[in-house]
Amino acid sequence: MGYCKRKKVIFIVLLSAAIFTVTMLKVPYSHFKHLMNNSLVDNLLHEEPCACAERCLAASDDDWFSERFRDDVHPLLSLSNSELSDSIFKWWQTLQSTRSKANYTEVIQKLFSVIPGEDRYRDADSSRCRTCAVVGNSGNLLGSFYGPLIDNHDFVMRMNKAPVEGFEKDVGYKTTHRIMYPESAIHLDSDTHLVLLPFKLLDIQWVTSALSDGSIKRTRFKVIDKLQANKDKAMVLHPAFIYYVRATWLHLRRSYPSTGFLVLMFALHICDEVSVFGFGANGKGTWHHYFEEMPKKFKRTGQHPGGLEHQIISELHQRNLIDLYTGW
Ligand code: C5P
Repeated sequence: MGYCKRKKVIFIVLLSAAIFTVTMLKVPYSHFKHLMNNSLVDNLLHEEPCACAERCLAASDDDWFSERFRDDVHPLLSLSNSELSDSIFKWWQTLQSTRSKANYTEVIQKLFSVIPGEDRYRDADSSRCRTCAVVGNSGNLLGSFYGPLIDNHDFVMRMNKAPVEGFEKDVGYKTTHRIMYPESAIHLDSDTHLVLLPFKLLDIQWVTSALSDGSIKRTRFKVIDKLQANKDKAMVLHPAFIYYVRATWLHLRRSYPSTGFLVLMFALHICDEVSVFGFGANGKGTWHHYFEEMPKKFKRTGQHPGGLEHQIISELHQRNLIDLYTGW
């Protein structure tokens, strides 16, 4: 039973007990209250984990979710949590090997001399209801008219080069966060949070450089050297978070999670309600981007080349932990 449902049941049981005691046993209500442990009643009835009406994700008591969700693994790097264990560092180094021999600690120091090093989004409490839309790049968005629905969220997270212009009725106008890596980067307006997805140490060196002197011009290939983006709003996903998503959610079955899956996990960790758009094949079973031509030759690709991720997203939806909008 979900947290909110359980509270409703507790409330109904307590109310019925109070009515029964007061009317049938003719016990004054003040005595009934005294009989009950007041602090327990107050806790049960008044301490909401968040202010959303639908659900409060991190407080979910779904067993399947609790087995996987670890709220002690923070998604973003900060000055206070940047240490990496040797084993995670070694694994991370293998993802996309480069010749860089840079020192991790020095790279982090330099990063936080350019972007803020504070802890962000550790603000969950009973007065917060943060709703987030995670917008993937699937062609199933075309013709969906999801735009206003997407814009209705507090945070709208987009990824890589996905455009908004020209597709507003289906994908919305608003972007609060754009998650990208050097090779998929585009220029941003000053209101949007850049969230770097680092697959290698060089990616962190790149974001530091791209937001300052522009000295790094190549990673795996030629990349944007001077990025237009607000450096005070920039952040970096924690390599240990990427590892946790792979190990705990994907059972080490992929070498690393897809961008979309990581963004969904990021949202699960910093939002109270999450809606997911633009994931998976379109209604005809074709996998393409909403901003690209439909492949001329019809090719049925099924749900996703990364089927496990798709299964987990469906499971989250079926368990009423997220809302999944699959377009047409
Ligand atoms: O292709 P790209 O990596 O830029 O897309 C971003 C994310 O959108 C993917 O990682 C994937 O999770 C999601 N996507 C999808 N179905 C598509 C295209 C993209 O689920 N047809």
